Amino acid sequence: MPKQNLQTILITGSSSGFGLESVVYLAQEGHRVIATVEDIDNAQSLTDKLQEKKLSATILSLDVTDTNSIKQVIEHIQTQNIQLDVLVNNAGVLLGGTLEDITDDEFRKQMDVNFFGMMNVMRACLPLMRNRGRGKIINLSSIAGYLGVPYSCAYVSSKWAIEGLSESLQYELKEHFNISLHVVEPGFYRTKIFKEHILYGSHVDNPESPYYGYSQSCKASFLEHVENSSNKSIQVAKCLSKIINAANPKFRNFPDNEARLAYYLKKFVPFQIVSPLIKKKFFK
Ligand SMILES: NC(=O)c1ccc[n+]([C@@H]2O[C@H](COP(=O)([O-])OP(=O)(O)OC[C@H]3O[C@@H](n4cnc5c(N)ncnc54)[C@H](OP(=O)(O)O)[C@@H]3O)[C@@H](O)[C@H]2O)c1
Repeated sequence: MPKQNLQTILITGSSSGFGLESVVYLAQEGHRVIATVEDIDNAQSLTDKLQEKKLSATILSLDVTDTNSIKQVIEHIQTQNIQLDVLVNNAGVLLGGTLEDITDDEFRKQMDVNFFGMMNVMRACLPLMRNRGRGKIINLSSIAGYLGVPYSCAYVSSKWAIEGLSESLQYELKEHFNISLHVVEPGFYRTKIFKEHILYGSHVDNPESPYYGYSQSCKASFLEHVENSSNKSIQVAKCLSKIINAANPKFRNFPDNEARLAYYLKKFVPFQIVSPLIKKKFFK
């Protein structure tokens, strides 16, 4: 890639999944990557992968829910005179459960990481981009950003909120400050978000819950769907690369056909037809 096209990119949630894959892919393309991880002790897989491929990235600690840790990263960028070109808001968690099986605190934590966390990082990086009169922000949304799915109301709410924030914000930023904003909409992928990292509402596994039987079967259908998915994290990394390297990328970007098809189904097919398809998929 020509040197003048190389960008400085900050990515959140780089310890695993899409984040890790994207750091490696973008570093391989020659970009300067600031890979942030919630807890620096969890950066080993990323460090190993970079070493294995003889690549380098700056690895910093950043918890999206902790404004102090975000401030420290911004200070690092400023003191090192780094010109930030691209912010990728990737960090996220998945909370499963029906509304009554999830506590208020759990629902809020879901929003704190996925939505307010993203907002915190944007608030901190925007002044750097505004001062330069340029920049690109890429927000990880999801197929769940436009499609309601059972057993996932908290996660879906966080992603719909991201869609609303992003779609509104992109007008203001592009118009006045030459900062473009894009969303990425992945379908289902077999990453840790559905395994080691998955969170469940406190009452999901309580046999006394009125939703117990339904939850257990829905949980099994979800995990089965994810297990059978042929989507690979590298598709998300390539999608990010395409947005980063393009002069005028689209606002909404699909790394796989599953999410693309779902988007057009939701947009053009009446809800009375779409909802039975969702029920069939997730209710056994
Ligand atoms: N996998 C899918 O099917 C799918 C589909 C659509 C969208 N997405 C979205 O894609 C993004 C990445 O998910 P993934 O599938 O790659 O799952 P993942 O492997 O679990 O990655 C999520 C990352 O977010 C980080 N994270 C969690 N809480 C954080 C916090 N408070 N501050 C900073 N980082 C935090 C995790 O870091 P630690 O482990 O160090 O906490 C982890 O590195 C998420 O936003 C997710 O919602 C995933």
